[in-house]
This record gives sequence, C-alpha cells and structure tokens, in this order.
Amino acid sequence: MELNQIKAEAEKEISPIISQKDLENWRVKYLGRKSELSLFFDSLKSLPFPLRKKQGNKANQTRQFLLVLYQQKRKNLEKNQPDFEFFDLTRPGEKPKKGHLHPLTMVLREIVHSFEKIGFEVVEGPEIETEYYNFDALRIPENHPARDMWDTFWLKSKVKLSSRAQVEGSQKSKMLLRTHTSPMQIRYMEKHQPPFRIIVPGKCFRFEATDALHEFQFHQVEGLMVGENISLANFKFIIREVIEDIFKHQVELRFRPSYFPFVTPGLEVDIKIKSKVNDEWLEIMGAGMIHPQLFKNVGYEANQWQGFAFGLGVERIAMIKYGIDDIRLFFSSDIRFLEQF
Ligand code: PHE
Repeated sequence: MELNQIKAEAEKEISPIISQKDLENWRVKYLGRKSELSLFFDSLKSLPFPLRKKQGNKANQTRQFLLVLYQQKRKNLEKNQPDFEFFDLTRPGEKPKKGHLHPLTMVLREIVHSFEKIGFEVVEGPEIETEYYNFDALRIPENHPARDMWDTFWLKSKVKLSSRAQVEGSQKSKMLLRTHTSPMQIRYMEKHQPPFRIIVPGKCFRFEATDALHEFQFHQVEGLMVGENISLANFKFIIREVIEDIFKHQVELRFRPSYFPFVTPGLEVDIKIKSKVNDEWLEIMGAGMIHPQLFKNVGYEANQWQGFAFGLGVERIAMIKYGIDDIRLFFSSDIRFLEQF
C-alpha cells in the first residue's frame, strides 16, 4: 500500500473512535509490528542505498504522522471529549447562566415607569440628611411626640460639618440617615415653582427591630404634585391608575384617615390581598394634602397652591406582586431566593 493511502485510511478510521479499546485496535493495525507500515520498513532492506534513504525518510514521516494522530486521540478520550466531528448537533443547547436585576430594582423601575407615563418627573435626593429637612421643615420639631414615628440613625460627626449643611439646615447641624423620602418635598419646593408633579425614589433607614414586615433599610417612592385646584380626588384617581398599572389588574384600595405632621388631612392607603383563607388589608403608603405651613417654609404663597404628597413602600409592592411573605429576604443575599426572579 502507498504511504499516502495508509495515512488517509488511518486518519479516516481514527476520527469516529470513542473508546480506548477501539483506539488500541487502531494502534495495532497502523503502528503495530504487523502493520502495513512495518512491512514497508522491512521491504526497505532490499532497496539500493539512495532510494532506501529517500523511502526511509518518507516512512518515518508517516510514522510520525500516525503517532501524533494516536496521541491526540488518546488525550481527547482521556478528557472524555469526543472529536469535534462527533459533536451531537441535535442536542438541546444549554443556556449560559446570566445575572439579572434584583427583584426590588425591577419593581422600583416599574413603579417609576408607571408614574413617568402620566407625566411625573423623577428626581433624587441625599440619603444622608440634616435634621432640618428630615424633621423640622416637615413640622416635626424636636420633642414632638410625632418624632417617635421615625426611629432614627443619627450620625456621629467628629468633623465639623460643612458650612453648606449648616446654612441649608437653618443652623441645625445634626445629620442622620433619612427616615423617609419626604425631606425632598422641601428641597424640591425650595428650588422650583409650581405647578409640578415629581416622584422621588430612594432608600430610607429606620433604627428599629426587624420583623416580617419591617426592615431597617427599605425603599420609598415619594410623590408630590402641586398646582392650582389640586384635590384629594386627584390623588385618589392617580394612585388607582398607577397601582393598577403596576399590578396589571384591578385592585381594591382603602383610604383611611391618619396623621402625619406635614399633611392635612393625612391618610393611609391599604390594598386588599385576597387569599383562599381570608382577605387581608396591607398598608402601602402614607399620604395627604400638603400642609400650608410647608408652603410657607419654602416661601410659596400658601393660599395660591394646593398639592398632595405620598410615600409609597416599594418592598410592600414587591411582596404583594411576587407573593413574598418576609421583607428580610430582599437583603438576605440568599441566592436561592434571588434565583427565582
Ligand atoms: N413620609 C411618610 C412616612 O414615611 C409617608 C408620607 C409621605 C405621608 C407623604 C404623607 C405624605 O411614613
């Protein structure tokens, strides 16, 4: 047999091999003592010198070629990887694992989008606040019992606070982690004239014990709409529109009188959660008509403007939407929880 033919056949036969046993048979057939190649080497003896050398070189190259084939194949079998030609194209593909957004981020974005659709502008504010914006400007003075509604992480400050904080805070210099997004009501109104409608998504902090419904850090979406002849009816309509847009179905809402020093009247909004056993109401936001004193605090003509404000609990919405019964799961970093979204 021609050397080239040996090469071609050996190559053809080795490619579908997937077992060590077949490979060993192949080795015996092409590289063994009784192989065609061995016979070829034997036959060289009878050739005259220059021709013997030439043919001998060729035979050695062939042997080298076959050895490389053999070694590569053996390596592949050891790695348990069939040759590329044997790749099973009908095998269903495996999806590469991709990361994804945190469930809270997804819900927050949906809420923001729902408000944007009806013309609310998105603004953000600082998580580190002054006592003035978080409390005093919102009619929650020191020693007022209402402050107890917001257990506060106060920040120790060894450094002298910047003059900016002192001026902004009307000389009040104590700093804290904001307990709600409401300080942005003041910050925004100080710099803008009505009419406007804004939302302020952001993180809040409260120094309190955690349970299934409470975390010491959570998110709110503050809303603020100020203009002429704005009424609670406007608020009720808008909130229903947005909540139903978020949940993609009709919801039952309950508006309950409540108290927050920066609104009058104040109210809380509950949503009905239907289950097979019983129906439950879950509070999702505080709200109300902006107190005229706030308008005065920011230099507005209090008689000219009305407005409503609300603070929506983002975790609550996410819990209802996804049927999550413990708020602490959101910050647990438990991959088994996160992978479900
Ligand atoms: N800031 C209030 C809270 O965190 C909620 C609220 C916002 C109430 C706006 C009324 C108006 O509890």
